[in-house]
Amino acid sequence: MVYVTRKAHFSASHRLYNPAWSDAKNDAVFGKCSNPHGHGHNYELEVTVVGKVPDDTGMVIDLKKLSDIVEQEIVEKVDHKHLNLDVDFLKGFVPTAENIAKAFWQILQGKITDGRLYSIKLFESENNFVEYRGE
Ligand code: NI
Repeated sequence: MVYVTRKAHFSASHRLYNPAWSDAKNDAVFGKCSNPHGHGHNYELEVTVVGKVPDDTGMVIDLKKLSDIVEQEIVEKVDHKHLNLDVDFLKGFVPTAENIAKAFWQILQGKITDGRLYSIKLFESENNFVEYRGE
C-alpha cells in the first residue's frame, strides 16, 4: 500500500463557543478562543489517500484529481470565511480543529474513488494539529 498526500491551505476565522452554555462557562472552557468576535488561523490541511499501485497508471490517485477535489469541496467553501457563520457543513458544531477535520472527512470520503481516504490532518498553527482517520 502507498500513502499519497495532498496539502492545502486556507485562512478562516472562528470562535469556540457552545451556545448551550453560559458566557462564563464558555470563557472558563475556551478562554480567549471564545472572544465574541472570533479570531483567525492560517490552516494547513493534509489529505492522505491509501491504496495499491495499479500496474497500468502507477498512481494510487492522480494528485491533480486529488488537488481538484480538495480545492472544490473544501478550500473554496472555507477560505476567508467565518467558520461559525458562513459554512453550512459546520453549522451545529463547535468549530474546533477536531470537529472541522471530522466534517472534512465526511465530505471527502464520498468524493475519493481512487484508493480510499486514510487521514485528514488539520494544522491550526505550527504546533497544534489534529489527525482524523474515520471512526
Ligand atoms: Ni482558534
